[in-house]
Order: sequence, then structure tokens, then C-alpha cells
Amino acid sequence: MKARVTAHKDYTVAKIDDRLYGAFLEHLGRAIYSGIYEPGHPTADEKGFRGDVMELVRDLQVPVVRYPGGNFVSAYNWEDGIGPRENRPVRLDLAWHTSEPNEVGIHEFADWCRAAGTSMMLAVNLGSRGLDAARNFLEYCNHPGGSYWSDLRAKNGQREPWNVKLWCLGNEMDGPWQIGHKDANEYGRLAAETAKAMRAYDKSLELVVCGSSNANMPTYPEWERVVLEHTYETVDHVSLHMYFANPEKDTGNYLALNHKLDRYIETIASTINYVKAKKRSKKDVYISFDEWNVWYHSRKQDRAILDGANGWPVAPALLEDIYNFEDVLQVGCIINTFIRRSDVVKIACIAQLVNVIAPIMTEKGGAAWRQTTYYPYYFASIYGRGTALNLLVESPGYDSEHDDNVPYVDISGVHNEEEGTLTFFLVNRNGEEAVDLEVRLQGFTGGMVTDHQMMTNSDLEAVNTAANQQNVIPRRGSGASVTDGLLTVSLPAYSYQMIRIKL
Ligand code: AHR
Repeated sequence: MKARVTAHKDYTVAKIDDRLYGAFLEHLGRAIYSGIYEPGHPTADEKGFRGDVMELVRDLQVPVVRYPGGNFVSAYNWEDGIGPRENRPVRLDLAWHTSEPNEVGIHEFADWCRAAGTSMMLAVNLGSRGLDAARNFLEYCNHPGGSYWSDLRAKNGQREPWNVKLWCLGNEMDGPWQIGHKDANEYGRLAAETAKAMRAYDKSLELVVCGSSNANMPTYPEWERVVLEHTYETVDHVSLHMYFANPEKDTGNYLALNHKLDRYIETIASTINYVKAKKRSKKDVYISFDEWNVWYHSRKQDRAILDGANGWPVAPALLEDIYNFEDVLQVGCIINTFIRRSDVVKIACIAQLVNVIAPIMTEKGGAAWRQTTYYPYYFASIYGRGTALNLLVESPGYDSEHDDNVPYVDISGVHNEEEGTLTFFLVNRNGEEAVDLEVRLQGFTGGMVTDHQMMTNSDLEAVNTAANQQNVIPRRGSGASVTDGLLTVSLPAYSYQMIRIKL
């Protein structure tokens, strides 16, 4: 089977915001406790952060991490996580039916982010709380000193403000499962007033308002219209979430799901434009896709804990999806979609980062390792910085539940002018046949393949475990070359590839 792509230097989508490769950490399951934080672990530092996890996170060069939730934030008192540890209360977390010891709070998270080389994206609680808690939290984090909350921060050991610029106005407020769920008008008003108060302190904040929890919500996309009519002038991004599943083990339909993602993005981009026009506004609002991932492998096993069968445990194993090779292809397709829509999607966070539907897994007291999906995320984060190209793709396709004629070749291209590189991320959705691909490189000078990484596997269900951490890993690809402005490469059946060209 043959396919052809044209890449022209001047035919671009947008400069990619580095935060497209962000991540998310919630007080949920073992993301924090025995994930990033485990005093007593053989690799723990003096603050209790696991060194083995830190190393895997640092390798990813994660630009931003959203915190502390998620559903958790909608009943969270941020003040519970400050001050001497021995005085911090244990609270019942109603979102995940667990007990929250509050050993980690904003100070510890900020320290961890600094050590991990990433920045903070904080969420305020607009479920059980509101404007007042939000403005106090902002003052606590960002004011240099001389006020009640900033002096308390200094007393608690942090004199310098953290100066957090990126804030989420609640989480999934359209969802009936959310503590303090609201309808679009109630939430829109509250978000607008909270944004006003936060901006009264600092106009330069970047604020993210809740959009839909997924594209199947009955209120989607009317929710976005109503919420944006209240908030358009005071926010910068609308938050969207989507989780991908293959319960029927239907690989064709599964790998076509990013076409649904694409329509979701397009619909909300249109809704943003509609409100912009209605308001006669000059301002742009973008999409923050601050929760995305595969999530379905662990749903059944979590039921008992979420129903309370185990009481109120501290940091039980929850949402511990073990990802397989098929999920590598899915994550590759999802990230390709974000790159192709980087004109409107400025922030995206893989949900989550450690243990909870995550690319990194740990054992309490034991190993930390890369799940299969670590790799497509890694390659995109490391090599996907630059300008996204608007590629012309001519590929045979197949019909699916989500779209007809889904091309077998899913591809994105990133040009980094400063480094003089061109990088392609490719997935072959065809499980039967290899695709011989030609990419015509137009407007670029020279070109030599300097790195070619490939992931293939005869078993779509192959996984990595603590005992077998190298089962699904990338290998050096072969046979990709550039001659006279033409890149030729063969994409084996069901494969993921990253090809880097030095110009
Ligand atoms: O990431 C897991 C959960 O998924 C988050 O807490 C919530 O925002 C979403 O429903």
C-alpha cells in the first residue's frame, strides 16, 4: 500500500506552545503518595520525593503540571496542606472515597516542580467553595509579602512568592458527579466573578474556564456558549477533557477516535468564534485540553473502592491502567491531533503523570518504570517543539464508527527553524499491511535522517511490568532516507515512528 504526503516550509499551522506537552497530578490513588512522594523509599531525597520517579519525569521535559485536581479539587481546602505537617488535618475525599492525609500541599508540590524542572498550573475549588478561597490562595502563592496570606506563606518557610500565572477556574463543573456541580449559567457567573477578582490582583494571569468533560455530555456544546458569554473577556482558555477507550477490542474504531477528538476541538473552536463575534471582541480565547489519555483498563477493578467497600483508605491503587502496545498507537494519534490543531489548542495535559492512568508506574517501596505510552509522549515532548506544518496527506483509508475514510497514515510534522530540524510523528493504523510512504519536502534545504525510532509489536496487548520493563520499547528504525527532497520510509503494519531530519 502506498501513501503520499507533502510538507511545505511555508504552509504552517502555528508555532506550537510548549505547554502542549503538559501533564497532570491529582491527589488521587497513588499519584502523589507512593508516586512522586514516598519518604523512606530507597531513592527518596530529604524532602521525601522519589528520585527514580523524578528522573523519569525530568527526562520527559514536562513544561507544566496541573494540580491538585481533578474531581479532588472540588471539595479541597488548600489551607489543609500548609503549615507544620503534624497540624495538618486528615480529610475525607468525597470524589474518590479515600482519606487525604495532606502530607503534600502547595509547598511540597512547588518544591517538587522546581526539582522536576516544570511549572505549576493550579486549580481553584469552585465546587464546594468559591471566590473567597480562590483569591486567598492566589494571594498566598503570588504576593511578595506584607499581607496576611503572603506573610503566612513566609512563616511556613517560603519567603519568595511562586508567582503562578496559569490558573484553572474549577474542574469539570458541567459534570453531575462533581461536588458542587452547577448549570452553565450558575458556573459562568461564578467563574466570571472569580476571574474578575483574580485579575483585580494581577491582570497578567492566564485563566482557564471549564468547558465540557467530554463530547458526549448532554450539555455539550451549549455549555461552552453559555459559559463563554459570561466569561469571554476575562478568560484565556476553555478547558476540554477526553478519555479514550477500547472496551470492545475493536482496534479500527479505537484508532479512529482521534477523528472524534478533532471534531470536538473544531466544534469548540467554532463556539469560541461565535461568542467572539457576538461580543464584537478582538480578544482570542484558546483551548486548554488539560485532561486526555487512554482510560478503561482499570475501570472494573476500581468499582469496589469507589463504592466504599474498603472504607476510606489512604492512597489506594486507583485508576492504575496498564497500557499495552495498542495504546502506544492511540497516544501517537492523539498527540498528532494536538500538533495539527496547535492553532487553537495551546495547552494539553496527559492525565495523569504517575500511577493514575499514567505513563510512569511505581511499586510502593520498589521500582519505577515506563509504561508503553511513555514513549510517544516522550518523543513528542522532546522533539515536537517548533512550528506545526499543515501537511497534505494522501493515504488510503477505512470506514469506522467515528468517521469514514480514516487515513491509514496518521502523521504530524514539526519544523524547528532554530535547530534546523524537521520531525515527523507517524502511526500506521493498518494492521494487515505496511505502507510505503513518500513525503515531498518543499521549501526546505538539504535533509538527512539523523534519528529514526520505531515501535512495532506482533502482540497489541503487550505491556511493560516491574519485572519486564523493556518488553515494549522503541528501537532504531531503518530504511528512512531523504533523496532530492523526497523522504521515503516504510511503515510496518500497526507501527509508531518518529523520524528526525537535519536540514
Ligand atoms: O483524571 C481522572 C479524573 O477524570 C479527574 O479527576 C476528573 O477531572 C476526570 O473526570
